Amino acid sequence: MKSINRHVLYIIISITISSQTTQAQKKTNEQRVDSVMSLMTLEEKVGQLNQYSDDLIATGPITIDADKASQIKKGQVGSLLNCMGSERTRTWQKAAMQSRLKIPLLFAQDVIHGYKTTFPIPLAESCSWDLKAIELSARVSATEASASGINWTFAPMVDICRDARWGRVMEGAGEDTYLGSKIAYARVKGFQGDKPGEINSLMACAKHFAGYGAALGGRDYNSVDMSERQLLEIYLPPFKAAANAHVATFMSSFNDLNGLPSTGNRHLLRDILKGNWKYDGFVVSDWSSIGEMITHGNVKDGYEAALCAMTAGCDMDMESRNYKNNLIQLVKDKKVSVSLIDDAVKRILHKKFELGLFDDPYKFCNTEREQKELNDPTHALAARDVAKRSIVLLKNDNHLLPLSKNTKTIAFIGPLVKPKMQNKGFWDVEVPGIDSAYVVSQWEGLVNKVGKTSTILYAKGCNIEGNNRDGFAEAVNVAKQADVVILSIGERRDMSGEAKSRSIIEIPGIQEELLKELLATGKPVVVIINAGRPLVFNYTAKNAPAIIYTWWLGSEAGNAIADVMFGDYNPSAKLTMTFPASTGQVPLFYNHFNTGRPPKNDSDLRNSYIDLPIYPRYEFGYGLSYTSFQYSQLHLNKKKLKSNEQLEVSATITNTGNYDGEEIVQLYLHDLVGSIVRPVTELKDFKKIALKVGESKTITFSIDAEKLSFFNQELKWVAEPGEFDIMIGASSKDIQLKDRFELVE
Ligand code: NOJ
Repeated sequence: MKSINRHVLYIIISITISSQTTQAQKKTNEQRVDSVMSLMTLEEKVGQLNQYSDDLIATGPITIDADKASQIKKGQVGSLLNCMGSERTRTWQKAAMQSRLKIPLLFAQDVIHGYKTTFPIPLAESCSWDLKAIELSARVSATEASASGINWTFAPMVDICRDARWGRVMEGAGEDTYLGSKIAYARVKGFQGDKPGEINSLMACAKHFAGYGAALGGRDYNSVDMSERQLLEIYLPPFKAAANAHVATFMSSFNDLNGLPSTGNRHLLRDILKGNWKYDGFVVSDWSSIGEMITHGNVKDGYEAALCAMTAGCDMDMESRNYKNNLIQLVKDKKVSVSLIDDAVKRILHKKFELGLFDDPYKFCNTEREQKELNDPTHALAARDVAKRSIVLLKNDNHLLPLSKNTKTIAFIGPLVKPKMQNKGFWDVEVPGIDSAYVVSQWEGLVNKVGKTSTILYAKGCNIEGNNRDGFAEAVNVAKQADVVILSIGERRDMSGEAKSRSIIEIPGIQEELLKELLATGKPVVVIINAGRPLVFNYTAKNAPAIIYTWWLGSEAGNAIADVMFGDYNPSAKLTMTFPASTGQVPLFYNHFNTGRPPKNDSDLRNSYIDLPIYPRYEFGYGLSYTSFQYSQLHLNKKKLKSNEQLEVSATITNTGNYDGEEIVQLYLHDLVGSIVRPVTELKDFKKIALKVGESKTITFSIDAEKLSFFNQELKWVAEPGEFDIMIGASSKDIQLKDRFELVE
């Protein structure tokens, strides 16, 4: 006991000392920022607010600026994006070191799901519901990128999205606010590490603030019109979670929100973010979004655009050059005060100090470290681990999967079997001078797994798009010779991503027709679906005996897919977006309100379409395992809960099948009567547990008033007394245990 106490005391003392050190450090940084600022001219201050893209790669409409180097040397640039590699970043940093005050540059990059090692696309990773795996993916990405000169990533994207037509849905964590907030927190921690300035960490950026995922019609960059309540309750919490994780920066979004482009939206940036949330990091605009306000039509020219964005609270101008061209004049004209500019500059310089760049501007430009980190074999292992956790088993009739490693002949068919780069999905990084083509194709993965024991036959069958059936005969012929057929179909990787919205989200081309021909051979067919969004594939869903949804899994895709298909990993992932049965159903999401006339059954179409029920193909939270789980013994420690109390809810989960496995146990609530209509069901907690065959575990959830709260008519965050249904299950629909409790005054 004594030793435990001493241990506890030691921890308390260490925490106190370390928080004092952090406080002291902060103070020193503040003093250092002030002393640099006291030396700066207005022109140099405005320079800090200016970010350019290097011309290595373009992630937006690039302006080739021959004069970049001389501007940097004059202190007119605060940051570069799209500049990678320890040598190239060093070269530009050297230019900054020739400026009068030697203020170092920040180097930013879209490190979205990996750097040299590509991890699964973020939407895929979200299906793991595995916060440690998600954090690890960000950690490894940060380790590689920070060794390659970069110190700032434009990630995580934390936009909630309920419309699978939107191409950028691949970049987020799906449709749910609760899960999205947990994932936002984990990703920020993963990128940023334990404290600012660690050599293997990046500053993160919560984007796109705000509402971008709700673009009308799922069209990229489109307008967003939503109630303040929906904004606060559904779309902003993941941003708040990122802020709670001390995310270093925010990015304003392209879209207009209720008529005001987010980049010039004072309510969002100054009132909510910097006001209510007391956020002390800085805000960068999206690419050219300050200038794009002119095209939106709420400002006349660059002068007004700069005025609007600066007043609203946007600190750094990515690529539009409107701050650089107008802020000094705006100060002269007394439209913008120097103190407003000072506030923005302070926020940016503070981050540069936190990163340690003033002490060593070349801190992240070490070629030896770059070589070491970019060739660390453990990164591939991590990528494989996260990838297999991201694969969703959608269907498995008669336990077709896992396949036996002794299968004599396997036909591996489809347009996505052999390509390598497709597996990377959108937003991979092509690192100049580095072999970023490292990807284990699906073919190689299968060969690695059973190449020595099975005969593996191949046919492409058809292309991803188009209607050329010339390859069908060969595919059928190959299938006939096999004991089992594996068919890999889906989207092209660039069919989702920025500016990649689709009006029809079906599997493109004649790929499902190829499946039909293969099924006609009578052979068992396992279908792999590759995509960056939920797709519609009714024929496959109804007719294929086994389906795995792999999204885009990154560098280790082939190995991870083989791990799952042959049972070396028992799939555990669950969908984080509702899968519609038709494009016409979107936006479709699980936590909707009830209408006054909800459908009673499939044939009751009053609240649906006359030609289609409103039920999804697969619901939020859905995903199968090779084993089965039984839910029992729901227990609530009280049936009446006071607002200052906790309700403890426990349930026992047993692995009743034949494989060890993991289950994502989901807890949903429904507020029966609310002064504002409440969703039919809402995820409020989950636990991912591992169970050996026959093993049982009892898990406990805690519910407090916070979990029961919502924004009422006055937009106050309240928990209203009344009854709540509590539901525990394997998906939002597959509810296994249910009870009711009451919140009393
Ligand atoms: C535009 C995208 O919307 C944003 O997410 C990205 O970070 C920037 N371009 C920079 O590449």
